[in-house]
Amino acid sequence: MAKKAYFIGNWKMNHGISGTKSYFERFLPEISKVDLSKKVVGIAPPFTSLAFARKLTEGSPVKLCAQNACFAEKGAYTGEVSPLMLKELGVEYVILGHSERRHIFGETNELIKKRVKGVYQAGLTPILCVGETLEERKLGNTFLVVSEQLKQGLSELEKVEEGRLIIAYEPVWAIGTGVNATPEQAEEVHFFLRDLLASMYGKDLAQTIPILYGGSVTPENIADLIKEPNVDGVLVGGASLDPEKFLKVVSVAI
Ligand code: PGA
Repeated sequence: MAKKAYFIGNWKMNHGISGTKSYFERFLPEISKVDLSKKVVGIAPPFTSLAFARKLTEGSPVKLCAQNACFAEKGAYTGEVSPLMLKELGVEYVILGHSERRHIFGETNELIKKRVKGVYQAGLTPILCVGETLEERKLGNTFLVVSEQLKQGLSELEKVEEGRLIIAYEPVWAIGTGVNATPEQAEEVHFFLRDLLASMYGKDLAQTIPILYGGSVTPENIADLIKEPNVDGVLVGGASLDPEKFLKVVSVAI
């Protein structure tokens, strides 16, 4: 079976209960008209909207995603949410190591690798985010930075089953700035990441791991980005907040 393209909307800290309700009232009737035979569509609402989103999306093609998760199953971890709790809610994918977690909340590769392992072991699929800052890119350190983030983030996963891991390349300078990486810039890094994954898990498995691009994806630039051979989908922030915009992104011809 050909690989599916992934379209994951990351709402970040937006859409509480009422926002979630009006979003899905507009989104669900339309998404059922989109040909999803070669696509996976997911939404990552904030934690407090997850249970409600689950109720609304049950029976729909929309996959439920979370924006973070603890490494532990339960216990004294104030402020954290366990992967098992997310699983109980019907969450399938968990975004980990997002640049906002790294840069605003100080999450390190050390912490992120533990989260990746915990999420994987709970039977959920981690979406591990990597990406360089503008300064790192200007210094020519893009490959160094993303390879460290990838290698360290995955260092506790000796083996990966097919379909159980997703990578997202999100250059920090492209997130929320309106300046997306060009398709060529994205492809260059995705190709590099694929190679690195092949060195870790073998070529065959690496081919099956979706590598998503994220950073100012819009209905206007999706068609060119998704054409690149190693861009297997997108992680969409701002443009996923509006159901009509996200529908346009998801409806791109592939
Ligand atoms: P953006 O965010 O689409 O608003 O740039 C992407 C992300 O942070 O995942």
